[in-house]
Amino acid sequence: MKKIISLFCIILLLTAGNLFAQEKEFVEEKKEPIRVGVFLDMTGQISMFGIATHNGVKLAVDEIDALGGINGRKLEIFLEDDTGSPEQARRVVEKLVSEDKVHAIIGEVASTNSLAAAPVAQEAKIPMISPSSTNPRVTQVGDYIFRACFVDPFQGETMAKFALFELNIKRVAILGDVQSDYSKGLAETFKKTFTELGGKIVIEQSYTQLDPDFKEQLTKIRKSKPDAIYIPGYYGQVGIIAKQARELNMNMPLLGADGWDSPELWKLGGKALNNSYITNHFAIDNPATEVQKFAAAYKTKFKVEPDALAALGYDAVYILADALRRAKTTDGEKLRDAIAQTKNFYGVTGKITNFDASRDAIKPAVILKLAPQYNKFVYYTTIQP
Ligand code: PHE
Repeated sequence: MKKIISLFCIILLLTAGNLFAQEKEFVEEKKEPIRVGVFLDMTGQISMFGIATHNGVKLAVDEIDALGGINGRKLEIFLEDDTGSPEQARRVVEKLVSEDKVHAIIGEVASTNSLAAAPVAQEAKIPMISPSSTNPRVTQVGDYIFRACFVDPFQGETMAKFALFELNIKRVAILGDVQSDYSKGLAETFKKTFTELGGKIVIEQSYTQLDPDFKEQLTKIRKSKPDAIYIPGYYGQVGIIAKQARELNMNMPLLGADGWDSPELWKLGGKALNNSYITNHFAIDNPATEVQKFAAAYKTKFKVEPDALAALGYDAVYILADALRRAKTTDGEKLRDAIAQTKNFYGVTGKITNFDASRDAIKPAVILKLAPQYNKFVYYTTIQP
């Protein structure tokens, strides 16, 4: 009997000790800020993307912190500039994980950079949300990798159908960036849908982000007489390509995607961007209250209008915040599960019904028409997933 009583006492003591330790951990966790690592290209080839995304992230974090944070804890941003290089993206995420000990990671924009860094987050079991990388392979890296945007097969398919059925275009030339996973993936999915539905790809040409001139490719394209050119690239090259195409008297529609979205595009392309359409995540002229509220707050804070990057950075933080609230912990595994369970999330880039089995957001895309006379993308239509 004595033995049984002492065993009972030991168990009681152990349980109490354990409870005490848990309580302590909780209190300790409670006063510390939640550390959010952010990695972006802030100074390189597509730094406009990084700057806009960081602004969106910052606005969301400031809003959340002003309301007392999450379960009593503030959010703290740890920003790293990867200069747009995939190797550097990997290195800075290693630093965020091992030195800054972040609880979650937001980044990158360019799919190639997200692909390079995602294995580090996966290995460390730190949830990573790419706000805007649309290449399908990004989230396939592992179960800790999510994205706040739709994927390129949806985006490519949407433009292919729009070109065929809305613009009545039958012959398309593709001009893509060979060094970008994003561009290559998008070209492939556009081509697949377009040809399956009866369209013809008359020629495919490529460039790199360091090419200063595109006239050689454009001259070849002109010879094959397309009704339109699909350019799945980033704004820095697209603006110049548009200008050079018009100089060669090629006045057909130019079709593109989210990578065109930057105020820089107007400076580079100007009037040459007339007669162009893109698929995108965000329309600033969407009258929805959440969108207009976000746009107004953003303009007040940063003195510029938000683009898709800013909107997706903002949404990525709120997706994370929503999951943190439900998880009630920063534990990587529990936080990952909570993100995966996101349902009916209303963001400024549209409603995410859920994350699918590949951790990709299921949400609509918009088609925008370019209006270079006003330096504006004008809302055309919404395409549901
Ligand atoms: N989707 C692009 C990529 O994966 C990045 C991007 C998103 C660019 C949104 C502009 C706007 O590389």
